[in-house]
Order: sequence, then C-alpha cells, then structure tokens
Amino acid sequence: MSVKQSSKKNFCFKISYMDYCPLFRIYDGTTPGLIVGEPRLIREIMTGTTALEVFTNRRAVKTTHPIMSKFLSSLEDEPWKRVRSTTTPTFSSGKLKSIIPIMTSSAGPMLSTLASSADNQEAIDVKLLFGNYTMDIIARSAFATNPDDYFVSQASKLFTFPFWRKFLDYVIPMRILEFFRFTVLPHRPMQFFRRITEQAIAKRKRENIEIPDFLQLLMKANVEGVTGSKHLSEEEILSQSVLFFSVGYETSSQLLAYAAYCLALNPEVQEKTYLEVKEAFLSNSGKIDHGILSKLIYTKAVIDETLRLYNPVLRMERRAGRDFHLEGTGITIPKGMIVGIPVWALHHAKEYYPEPDAFKPERFLAENRHEITPGTYLPFGDGPRNCIGSRFALLECQLALVEILVAFKFVKTQKTKVPLEFYPTGRPLLGPKGIFVGVERRSPI
Ligand code: HEM
Repeated sequence: MSVKQSSKKNFCFKISYMDYCPLFRIYDGTTPGLIVGEPRLIREIMTGTTALEVFTNRRAVKTTHPIMSKFLSSLEDEPWKRVRSTTTPTFSSGKLKSIIPIMTSSAGPMLSTLASSADNQEAIDVKLLFGNYTMDIIARSAFATNPDDYFVSQASKLFTFPFWRKFLDYVIPMRILEFFRFTVLPHRPMQFFRRITEQAIAKRKRENIEIPDFLQLLMKANVEGVTGSKHLSEEEILSQSVLFFSVGYETSSQLLAYAAYCLALNPEVQEKTYLEVKEAFLSNSGKIDHGILSKLIYTKAVIDETLRLYNPVLRMERRAGRDFHLEGTGITIPKGMIVGIPVWALHHAKEYYPEPDAFKPERFLAENRHEITPGTYLPFGDGPRNCIGSRFALLECQLALVEILVAFKFVKTQKTKVPLEFYPTGRPLLGPKGIFVGVERRSPI
C-alpha cells in the first residue's frame, strides 16, 4: 500500500481529517504524523494484540495542574492502567442501573421547556436544552450536587478559559510553568469543585451514608481496592469527577441535539421510533426504568446512526510507544509519532456507508449490521483506550428519548438549518452553531 505524500490539501489538518483517504502523512506544525484511515490498519493499531503494548497512549498532555495531570484521559502506561481498571466497574450496566433515578428525575425541567415551546409554537435550541439536562445529570452524579446558578457559572468558567492560558501551557516548557505555578485550569472554579467534592466525601464518611452516584462508586472503588494496587486517592477521585463532568456533558448533549434534529428532518423515522417507544412504555406499565431498554431496538439504531452522521469526536489519536511496522504497507511508524484516525471521514465515506449523508437507522439493525466494515464505525473509539462512558451516554440518551417521544414530536421549522452549520474548529470536537427544531405535543398515551 502506498502512502499519499503531503499534497497541499493534505497539509491542511482539518481538510485531511474530513476527506476520506486511507493513508497519508501530515505535518502538525513541523512534526510529522500519519493519518490511518484503512480499516484493517485501524484495527491493528487500536485493538490488535499490540494495542495495549505499543499504542497505549495519546499525544502527551503537558500540564502542571495537580487535577488535570491525573485525568484518566491524560494518564499514561501503568498509572493509566491502574486508574482505568479501578474506574471501569463504575460504568458496568449493573452500577449504571443505580444512576437511572438521577437520570429520570433530571428530565422534569427539560419536559417543561418542551411543553412551553410547543404551546408557544417556538422553535427551540436543542443544544441548549439538552446541555442543561446533561449538566444536571452529570453534576448530580459526579459532584453529588444540584447545579444552581453559581455551580453553572463556575462550570462554564472551568471550560471556557481564555485561549492564552491554553496557549501558554502548550508553548512554555513545563519547568518554567511549574516555577510560576501556572495552571491551565482557572484557579477559583477548581477550588470550588474541589471543595464541594471534599465536603461530600467527608459528609458521607462521617454520616456513613450511601447515595447511588458516581462519587459513591468511585469512593467504593477506593475501599474495595485498599488491599490491592487498585486504589484512588481523594485527589484522583476529584480528578475523575471533573473529567467525567467535562467530557460527559458536552458530548452527550450534542448527541441528543443531533438526534432531535435528525428525527425532525425524517418524520417517517420519528414515527417508527415513536411506535416502538410507545409500545415499550405501555408494556413496561408506563414506567421509564431499566426494564424498558431491551425493548428499544429501533431507537438504539436511531442513536447509532445519529452518532455515525454527527460523531461529536471528529478524530482520535494514538502515540507509538516504539517503532512499529504496519504490516503490508512497507511503513514503519517511528517511536513517538502521533497516528491520527479520521473518524468523521470514515463515517462519511461512501465506500463504507452508501448514501453517506442520508439518515438511515436501518444500517444498524441486526439484519444489516454485518455489512458495516469493522474499524469504520468509531463514535466511542475502540480498544483498551476507548470511551469509558459510552454506556452512560447511551443510557442517558435512550431514557431522554423515551421521556420526550411519548409526549412530543420534533418538527422542522423555518429556523431549522439544513444542512447544519458548524464553527470552524481546530479542536477534535464538532462545534455546532444553534440547532433549532420545532416541537408539538402528542395526545397522551
Ligand atoms: C455521546 C457521548 C460521548 C462520546 C461520543 C464520547 C466519545 C469518546 C471518544 C471518541 C473517546 C476517545 C476514545 C479513543 O481514543 O479510542 C472518549 C474517551 C473518553 N470518554 Fe467519552 N464520549 C462520550 C461520553 C462520555 C461520558 C458520558 C463520559 C463519562 C461520564 C466519558 C468519558 C470518557 C473518558 C474518561 C475517556 C478517556 C478514556 C481513557 O483514556 O482511558 N465519555 N470518549
């Protein structure tokens, strides 16, 4: 297999990731890198026997921050393995079941907003709507707190810090940053999150109370692991809470917003989903709980197809831990090189998804799923370093769709943009501009 030399087009990071091409070199600044879009090679890198040994890590995150440096996503090698294996049980289906009541009780304000939009016949920015919903869930499950206005303001400060701080963190050598105690995350919100987490942990220990949420599950991982090496310090717990909060909030709200948008534009798909949701709801005695999930086959396919068409994470990366020969290509990836996986391009390549721009949940039904080439569908990544929160996100999204679809219908309005517009982004995350859809009430079931 030949590697495309960097044409002018391939020099451009963004276009290269958006246009499908199986293998090409890029320059990230002056550093050479490789983009691998060939499914067999992607699998070799991400899930093959060498995935854990050679491609364990992503691009090194240079940070001096005591919390940020312990994020699961930034840890490397042995420390990553320890924290990953300690936090993984937190996301098992059994453990997530205990978080379902938090998810369903967060739906109230979202349903009220939908009701008033329906009554006033106003299009609604679903990105904003679902942002509030997923913020509520993740705040209550990771920080054991109901997000009041102060919480929301601190959260937005935490993640909309000025660009110059980020820039400095990337360009100034670590030892100089350390000398000036510079941190990329702003100090005051970090102190706020640290305080509420420490207080919640202390209160639970003091009063011996257990509340089914992430914090409890992470604390339990702590106790259960004291005898072995599986153990999280309090700072590591806080670190994972902040991380889950930041990555879980934005991606999940985007997923729900795209799902609402796709349903509004595809009324026949929405009707089919509604019929399934209605039947599941009725046969589960009108309860929205764990029992309903196994009945949502088509609804799950709708979510899968939404994640194909609008994968919030555009690209993924791995760093070679040693020189690695890519079989059948004549290429050796040198130690330290960043290998990029162009997920957006794969999801929109007609080689793998005929009519790639059409919204067709049927692709993901059991009878058709075998037609999807392994290695071409990667909304949550793959292999040992895949998304640890995928089950949580899918659960949250399925439950929200049931809550909404039994009572409302999404419709296209004049404010609904076709196609959707995105902010030009150098980040690996898709940045949609407002996503507006209309909403109508359904007659009660
Ligand atoms: C629709 C929602 C979500 C999407 C599309 C998504 C997508 C991703 C992707 C593509 C990766 C990189 C995987 C790889 O490199 O192979 C990732 C990593 C990660 N995600 Fe998610 N994610 C979502 C929701 C969540 C949630 C709700 C949480 C936590 C509550 C979460 C926590 C993480 C963490 C901790 C990692 C890093 C894992 C590691 O390095 O070991 N994600 N996610």
